Amino acid sequence: MQRDWSIFPAVLSQAHNWVRAVIRPGDTAVDATVGNGHDTVFLAGCVGPTGRVVGFDIQPAALSKSHQTLVELGYQDRVNLVELGHQGMSSWFARHTAISRPRAVMFNLGYLPGGDKAIITRTETTLAALRSALELVVAGGIITVVAYPGHVEGESETEAVIGWARSIPTGLASVAFYQFLNSSKPSPWLVAVSRRETAWQADIQGG
Ligand SMILES: C[S@@+](CC[C@H](N)C(=O)[O-])C[C@H]1O[C@@H](n2cnc3c(N)ncnc32)[C@H](O)[C@@H]1O
Repeated sequence: MQRDWSIFPAVLSQAHNWVRAVIRPGDTAVDATVGNGHDTVFLAGCVGPTGRVVGFDIQPAALSKSHQTLVELGYQDRVNLVELGHQGMSSWFARHTAISRPRAVMFNLGYLPGGDKAIITRTETTLAALRSALELVVAGGIITVVAYPGHVEGESETEAVIGWARSIPTGLASVAFYQFLNSSKPSPWLVAVSRRETAWQADIQGG
């Protein structure tokens, strides 16, 4: 049987595939890096009119552009766009108890395409946000992280995120890594953390 390279979806598409496999209408989802809003729009479609998407970004211009897109699609009533660093995710949910915990949390690290390349995600705040996401996400839920190792901050962020992902106890979640290995430039990668339906307590305590 002849095989085509396209059986491997692009990294961003694969993130969507894995999220789509777990999210249900009526769920809550988080876009931890709204940017131009592509993942926010995707998540808003997945959760439907009875669901909720909470999107974080530190750039007001990105949020207002994304808001415009959401209005054009009629999705604005199911989305909270929050001008706050994703490291504040836990405290935001603690203040908004009417909003249920997320089944999916998506991160797309780096800088805004077409925006100021100096405004990028940073290792320390990214790790803080990932730890919050793992605490917040419901059993059976998923966290996806797309990262770009081709810039200076991206290198250390890459190592830190992969180190964090490797350290997650197997009893708590399973972790997958997806990347094209034979591209000419440093290629983006995807880490997905699938939180188990039932945690294996012994494994978690054992680390
Ligand atoms: C690669 S872009 C995201 C692209 C987006 N997913 C899309 O569909 O267009 C990364 C975004 O992360 C944002 N960002 C940087 N630091 C952040 C932080 N601490 N918390 C939330 N967003 C942050 C940037 O402002 C930028 O818009």
